[in-house]
Amino acid sequence: MSEELRIREGRSRSLAQALEEHLTEWSERTGITVEIWALPARDVPAKVARAVLATLGEALSNVERHSRARVVSVAVTLGRGGLRMTVSDDGVGFLGPAEGRGVTAMRTHFTDLGGSFTINGVPGEGTTVTGVVPRRR
Ligand SMILES: Nc1ncnc2c1ncn2[C@@H]1O[C@H](COP(=O)(O)OP(=O)(O)OP(=O)(O)O)[C@@H](O)[C@H]1O
Ligand SMILES: [Mg+2]
Repeated sequence: MSEELRIREGRSRSLAQALEEHLTEWSERTGITVEIWALPARDVPAKVARAVLATLGEALSNVERHSRARVVSVAVTLGRGGLRMTVSDDGVGFLGPAEGRGVTAMRTHFTDLGGSFTINGVPGEGTTVTGVVPRRR
């Protein structure tokens, strides 16, 4: 993903900008509406930004391939507890645990940073992906 590479190379582009550009392009390509509820107000360490962008890419690929959603809502916030991202769609959801390669990769991005990851599908309602990176690591 080019956003990821540019941050890794240290060019001056904020995480918020990278997220917004990626979401805009993805929405235009897929025709699925993206509602951006929140973007981070400050920059974060490059390894955190990479985890967020890589996880967003996997989550959106699942929305595109599996969900039949009309709308996906995205929030990435920085609070006292650290960074939290949620990607929530209004698609078909799923039943039971989801443990493919994509979910394993997303979880690893967060656990490698001392954080946590969950994915929750509700049949007929949609799917929510949540990742948290605590501030003190
Ligand atoms: N947004 C979503 N809507 C509906 N089902 C989903 C969604 N995200 C994940 N799933 C379900 O969880 C399963 C596991 O997802 P995961 O990304 O791990 O694997 P995958 O997408 O099937 O394959 P890949 O390894 O290529 O990502 C999916 O096959 C799908 O059944
Ligand atoms: Mg997948």
